[in-house]
Amino acid sequence: MKIIVTGGCGFLGSHVCEFYVKKGAQVIAYDNMTKHELARTGFAAEEARNHNWDYLRNIGVKMVKADVRNLEELADNAAGCDYIVHTAAQPAMTISWENPLLDATTNVMGTFNVLEAARKLKIPAACCATIHIYGNKINEELTESPDRYVREPAAIDENYQILQGVLTPLHASKAAGDIYIRAYIDTYKLEAASFRLSGIYGTRQFGGEDHGWVANFAIRSAISQPITIFGTGRQVRDIIYATDVCEAFDAFYKTRKPGVYNIGGGQATAISLLNCVDIIAKITGARPHVDMAPDRHGDLRYFICDTSKAEKGLGWKPKVMPEQGIGLLIDWIKENKGIFKAKG
Ligand SMILES: NC(=O)c1ccc[n+]([C@@H]2O[C@H](COP(=O)([O-])OP(=O)(O)OC[C@H]3O[C@@H](n4cnc5c(N)ncnc54)[C@H](O)[C@@H]3O)[C@@H](O)[C@H]2O)c1
Repeated sequence: MKIIVTGGCGFLGSHVCEFYVKKGAQVIAYDNMTKHELARTGFAAEEARNHNWDYLRNIGVKMVKADVRNLEELADNAAGCDYIVHTAAQPAMTISWENPLLDATTNVMGTFNVLEAARKLKIPAACCATIHIYGNKINEELTESPDRYVREPAAIDENYQILQGVLTPLHASKAAGDIYIRAYIDTYKLEAASFRLSGIYGTRQFGGEDHGWVANFAIRSAISQPITIFGTGRQVRDIIYATDVCEAFDAFYKTRKPGVYNIGGGQATAISLLNCVDIIAKITGARPHVDMAPDRHGDLRYFICDTSKAEKGLGWKPKVMPEQGIGLLIDWIKENKGIFKAKG
């Protein structure tokens, strides 16, 4: 098997590359190495930027520095592949307000180009959407317990109407990608999937305040920097470990049931930001310092995926529980502490 992974040097993409190398596949990581959010993390950005590239090259991945916005280059590199996994994106809501053009070109045209390449080459494609495309009207459906927001029913499935509430450019660009995937499935019978992903976490994630909050909390704890929580800290996500998402990509490759799928850990992995701080304190034996700040524009206070469709359709189920996954993440941060030393 030969696979091309767009955004292969990103957090999730690097896991998809590693997953398929372990399966004996030929793997191409296709990434333009922008990683805009790294400039704002407060730790050694250049070392972080290159870490996944070096890691993947050492395990035998073919590295291609190129842009998903270039259809010709993408299609040329994908020629001869059996599968495209599309993880390249501008993933941060904050950056989408500040640079809507970057957000639109990367997320809309990037996804469009992946679909076009897959159509031309007649190969399946799995793409990363996000649970943010449902919008934040969910915020109006919540009650509160001391440590988390609560909703009845707890889990949300794919029939929940998308794009409700206050929208940001990220909502628009990621939803456009999701709609294009459905259009290519319906019009060209493309074997494609849009994974509406919940909060993902794991090793090789250089989380900052813009994107990747579990890693951001774990890294800041490890370098004794305060964590900033925007909002009450009761925000809930059914966090999912990166390798569980890789299993979902592989389940789609095997079953080829096109469509949109909520991919998260479900109720078993649902934690609030406050719960996450508790878990980190329990694992490290030290309670991180937390500063509270106001909610951010567009923030979604709650999401737990109803994963029944993926479980039935793809035969997939998430496996890694938060304590285990956060433990692996913290071990990796400790092993790579040089990267995370505070800048300046
Ligand atoms: N991390 C999460 O919690 C989360 C949650 C929901 C959805 N997602 C989605 O999952 C996907 C992967 O997220 P991630 O956390 O691994 O992000 P990431 O930022 O770590 O990785 C994205 C990669 O894409 C690359 N990239 C950006 N623009 C590109 C371009 N024009 N051409 C080629 N490569 C480009 C970047 O250099 C980066 O390496 C994204 O689509 C994101 O929206 C992530």
